[in-house]
Amino acid sequence: MIRIIFLLAFLLPTSLNASILDFCVADLKGAENPSGYPCKSPASLTVDDFVFSNLIAGNTSNFFKGALTPAFVDEFPGVNGLGFSVARLDIEEGGVIPMHSHSGASELIIIEQGHVTAGFISSDNSVFVKTLTKGDIMIFPQGLLHFQINAGRGRATAILTFSSPNPGSQILDLALFGNNLDSALVAKTTFLDPAQVKKLKGFFGGSG
Ligand SMILES: *[C@@H]1O[C@H](CO)[C@@H](O)[C@H](O)[C@H]1NC(C)=O
Repeated sequence: MIRIIFLLAFLLPTSLNASILDFCVADLKGAENPSGYPCKSPASLTVDDFVFSNLIAGNTSNFFKGALTPAFVDEFPGVNGLGFSVARLDIEEGGVIPMHSHSGASELIIIEQGHVTAGFISSDNSVFVKTLTKGDIMIFPQGLLHFQINAGRGRATAILTFSSPNPGSQILDLALFGNNLDSALVAKTTFLDPAQVKKLKGFFGGSG
């Protein structure tokens, strides 16, 4: 009897509390802050707020021969506040997802097709690299530089999950060569040859 009263004392407050927040589908018209977007009105929600139907191959006709199809909070408002998101990655033969990092999330890759050489570099500069194939999963801890390349024949496809609805991304080549940071400063701070800096600025759309 005492045990039942004890249980009820725990259960009743939550089951009677109508304001408990089961979910917070993003209202993308609201302002995003570090904890996400404000919630859409629960009365306006349908099952389609919790379904994403476009995890299809993106356009890989680009310099990297790769495409990321995100289902992050901006594309899939249902993941707002839930601490995760998903993307699809396609890399054509010879393609590369260059060195980059996600300041807001750890990443997990699940290989669906093809061969992908993937790796990350820890903050003490230890290197962790492996060629992965269908059924393999690898993790890239939050904030660390990492990359993926297609190491086989034909297209490679993978599913990525992130420990944030909005992982953010910084691509090293674009940070160094895709903006107007003075080429002399880039050369000085990277120890690269100035001619190589100019060449890479040409590839990545930088100036200066
Ligand atoms: C893919 O991107 C290329 C280069 O931007 C473009 O020419 C092509 O039309 C795009 N293909 C599709 C199917 O959108």
